[in-house]
Amino acid sequence: MARKKIALIGAGNIGGSMAHLCLLKGLGDVVLFDVIEGLPQGKALDLSHAGPVEGFDGNVIGTNKYEDIEGADVCIVTAGIARKPGMSRDDLVGTNAKIISSVAENIKKHAPNSFVIVVTNPLDAMVTLTHRVTGFSRNRVVGQSGILDSSRYRSFIAKELNVSVNSVAAMVLGGHGDDMVPVRSTCLVGGVPVEKLISPQRLAEIEKRVRNAGGEVVALLKTGSAYFSPASAAIRMTEAYFFDKKEILPCAALLEGEYGVNGYYFCVPVIIGAGGVEKVIDINLNAADKKAFDESLNHVKDIVQAMNRILGVS
Ligand code: APR
Repeated sequence: MARKKIALIGAGNIGGSMAHLCLLKGLGDVVLFDVIEGLPQGKALDLSHAGPVEGFDGNVIGTNKYEDIEGADVCIVTAGIARKPGMSRDDLVGTNAKIISSVAENIKKHAPNSFVIVVTNPLDAMVTLTHRVTGFSRNRVVGQSGILDSSRYRSFIAKELNVSVNSVAAMVLGGHGDDMVPVRSTCLVGGVPVEKLISPQRLAEIEKRVRNAGGEVVALLKTGSAYFSPASAAIRMTEAYFFDKKEILPCAALLEGEYGVNGYYFCVPVIIGAGGVEKVIDINLNAADKKAFDESLNHVKDIVQAMNRILGVS
């Protein structure tokens, strides 16, 4: 069986971390693309030197030429700028919309059969734009948001109860912004509803921290945003696709009537397998979660409209 080819568009912090993960996990050959000359080439050379130590044979190249992504099975997009302290993800829209327009054109041209995972923020708008520009079907363009947000929720709950992260299931849905929706009813610890183990007041504090967790990292790093965890999340989606896992994962998917929403990318549970986003799962949210979900959707609509104004699209 031929090796899979993974194109990482953007060779910054997340791109480099994803390349490392792909090689360590033996997922295939990696192409690191960036507009900065030397950056992807330097990271690729460095990564290749880890091969003999770790025992991986995957090839990794760095490039500034889109021709090198030809034939990619998966393209993961992190091209763009990351936020600095005091910035929201939405503040990135002007710069990143222009970058993503050109990235998506080139994916369409050079990797027309790929499964595309978008990570660049503001995520919901950037994945919308990628879908629009590539013209790919909705099952082949998806955004990474909910795996990371849910993982933050799971990690805080696991710490609170001093249990393994593997014993905590939870989903965070909605937009990838500060009004994301940690769905408490999906949070189970060893199969037990979290509300039986942690008080409502404490859960509210933890959920507030989940919503601001990205900002908490930015405030500490000062020079950029989270990268290890988004890298892990995007690679989890890649594995679900390559190995036809049919895994239920919270991801930003194009809604076409599900949840009563039409034409917007929004984080909901989906099944990822060899067909890409094979199914959107429409869970029955309770009234409070639905209200929060709708408020978050209004925010996503605003940011998509702002993006369209910037791009001159009506
Ligand atoms: N094509 C390809 N790469 C580009 C382009 C472009 N047109 N424009 C910028 N880049 C590259 C930058 O040169 C940089 O190396 O994208 C890379 C982004 O890397 P970082 O600045 O390290 O940012 P990172 O932490 O990887 O985050 C990338 O993902 O989670 C989001 O908010 C985050 O929008 C940000 C993105």
